[in-house]
Amino acid sequence: MTATLSDTVSFTKQGAIGLIKINNPPVNALGQSVRAGLKAAVELGLADDSVKAMVLICEGRTFIAGADIKEFAKGMGEPGLVPVISNMETASKPIVAAIHGTALGGGLEVALGCHYRIAVPTARIGLPEVHLGLLPGAGGTQRLPRLVGAQAALDLIVKGNHIAAKDALKLGIIDAIVDVSIDGSVESDLETAAIAYAEKLLADGTGPRAIRDITPEAAGPEVFDNYEQSIARKQRGFLAPFHIIKSIRAAFELPFDEGMARESELFMELMTSSESAAQRHIFFAEREVAKVPGLAKDTPKRDIKTAAVIGAGTMGGGIAMNFANAGIPVKLLEMKQEYLDKGIALIRSNYENTARKGRISLDAVEQRMALIEPTISYADIADVDIVIEAVFENMDVKKDVFKTLDATCKQGAILATNTSTLDVDEIASVTQRPQDVIGMHFFSPANVMRLLENVRGEHTADDVIATVMSLSRRIGKIGALVGVCDGFVGNRMLHQRTRESAFLVEEGATPEQIDKVLFDFGFPMGPFTMADMAGLDVGYKVREERRKAGKVEKRDSVWIDKVVELGRYGQKTHAGIYKYEDGRTPIPDPEIAALIAQCAQHAGIEQRKISDQEILERCLYPMINEGAKILEEGIAARPLDIDIIWINGYGFPGYKGGPMFWADQIGLKTICDAYKKYADQFGEHYWTPSPLLEKLAKEGKGFYSR
Ligand code: 3HC
Ligand code: NAI
Repeated sequence: MTATLSDTVSFTKQGAIGLIKINNPPVNALGQSVRAGLKAAVELGLADDSVKAMVLICEGRTFIAGADIKEFAKGMGEPGLVPVISNMETASKPIVAAIHGTALGGGLEVALGCHYRIAVPTARIGLPEVHLGLLPGAGGTQRLPRLVGAQAALDLIVKGNHIAAKDALKLGIIDAIVDVSIDGSVESDLETAAIAYAEKLLADGTGPRAIRDITPEAAGPEVFDNYEQSIARKQRGFLAPFHIIKSIRAAFELPFDEGMARESELFMELMTSSESAAQRHIFFAEREVAKVPGLAKDTPKRDIKTAAVIGAGTMGGGIAMNFANAGIPVKLLEMKQEYLDKGIALIRSNYENTARKGRISLDAVEQRMALIEPTISYADIADVDIVIEAVFENMDVKKDVFKTLDATCKQGAILATNTSTLDVDEIASVTQRPQDVIGMHFFSPANVMRLLENVRGEHTADDVIATVMSLSRRIGKIGALVGVCDGFVGNRMLHQRTRESAFLVEEGATPEQIDKVLFDFGFPMGPFTMADMAGLDVGYKVREERRKAGKVEKRDSVWIDKVVELGRYGQKTHAGIYKYEDGRTPIPDPEIAALIAQCAQHAGIEQRKISDQEILERCLYPMINEGAKILEEGIAARPLDIDIIWINGYGFPGYKGGPMFWADQIGLKTICDAYKKYADQFGEHYWTPSPLLEKLAKEGKGFYSR
């Protein structure tokens, strides 16, 4: 007999075992119909005298991967998850959760409400709510600590990592790992094993076992205070990690039901917070960004089995590591053997450092090194499926390289450039196959930074775009597709902030004031600390090139160039905009303050006291206005592409959701009004809102509600 209890839940009897099955693709999220079905199934199993125990199992690729995040914005219907789980936990017949794929968030909380948990060896479990700005709100912060103690619960829930079945077994979160490799599919094997497990419980006379009845091992307040201190810096600005600590603490200080009430209260605070709204926005944006508007889902992809990188410098080495990390053989080509040797030695030392920190094994270092084949001959790369050029940022050099690639590489190979400022179409124009040319703008350090701006040229073929977008994910990156323009999306917007921050200093704000305002906003560091770290000479050269190319700013601010001309390149010369006595800590330097004052005087600018609010507005609003222009021009297809770029490439705080999301929160009218105010003060040249920004502001709309 099979009873269908809702669209997504069914109940079948197998002898004395009631089998509750959830089928809610793609990830069996706990939507209303799953909750209602689960409640009804447990009630049915309890009411039927012939059912002595129950098994909860999921169809498809995974166990329940959590609450249905899409429901959060609409409000969740009855029944709530907490009472559904409570009914399971207090049931008079044993319930076994049978886990495959991932049991995450509410999914693991459901499993913790069951009396026993078994899993296949490949299963993973976790409470990742923190990444959505939430805490496990269905008993996770109360039940897990009762199983694993305070420290392990804090680590698991505050970090939100997934752990493997074998680690979950060691911690006592699951009771058994079942061997499912006998025959058939994972699900049918797991089902058989779970029924056998439940039958054995019955045979042994083992009844239900509720986690709520366990008294947690004592943990004093210092455990939580210390943990809070240990994450304070890294989690600055996020609410959820700190609420999680409070909630876990309640598990040790309050009886179970009061702890649950405290958890609910803290969960609701997070659910209605702007931080969580922003983080949930990012969750979906990170998945949407891979879907290119206008590109059919079934666009064919080219097969990428091998790769080559040209140039083994700062970027080339890191790019090659990404391929090796993903198990893709990669050839690394240089002009001269000595540069190649240097590049390869640096890659090895990077891997060895990672191994020293325990993040990869020494075997893995050798495996990855073996995947990187050094060469100085183009003939060696003739057969690769994709080439990424990372040579000097110079158009003539790049054109030469692309001519050679065109003459050497097999037909159908993708030819990508890592240029950060040059015109991809101009580079493509020297080849006979511009349809195969695309930009892949990695960020430094290329083996660490997750962002990849994929730059679509005028002639880039759809299958090249589809391949590169999917390859991005394969090599562990988040690829965002952008169009050709000066600076693409990220650097083009950054340029606005760089310009205004330099003006602000000239007008009387100090570099440290500006850095503090942007640090307090949530960036990992302010623009001047960042510039000193990256090396001021880099920007100097770029500005020089721009001037040579006739790209002059209406108002030129020269004080940073003067700093460079003093031989102060930043951290690497122990002096830049700041001085560095210990090589790392920026210290304001009176010498630079005097230089700035001199420059201001020379430019006829009267220095004044500038408020933090003015700094924030003048640094961030022009970025948003540039973002609006980028949308108007179709350089980015959607505001979410811009948000993903800024979150993953430039340290925009995740709890603010990216510049375009944040702009919607503060209101586009606020930004337009500020533009008018600054236009009155400084003229319209830098302070004319883009037509899109102005239109949306007038209509009371946002970038996401166009
Ligand atoms: N709710 C709604 N949709 C979800 C979802 C969820 N919890 N989890 C995944 N999805 C959707 C994705 O948006 C995606 O949709 P799309 O195909 O339309 O883009 C689809 O399912 C597949 O997801 P992925 O592309 O991420 O597939 P992967 O195979 O790479 O990863 C996964 C699968 C590991 C389950 C990953 O999706 C994931 O980490 N999901 C989120 C898990 C999570 O955060 N759970 C906690 C939720 S909050 C909660 O439970 C609150 C509770 O404590 C009360
Ligand atoms: P780099 O100077 O460290 O490395 C360039 C390497 O290319 C050198 O090792 C050089 O020997 C080699 N090279 C030059 N011409 C060559 C040729 N014809 N054939 C083979 N090898 C050749 O430069 P970096 O910083 O790695 O930059 C490379 C590219 O990446 C540039 O286009 C740059 O704009 C871009 N980029 C740089 C970022 C950064 O932060 N450094 C960030 C994003 C992109």
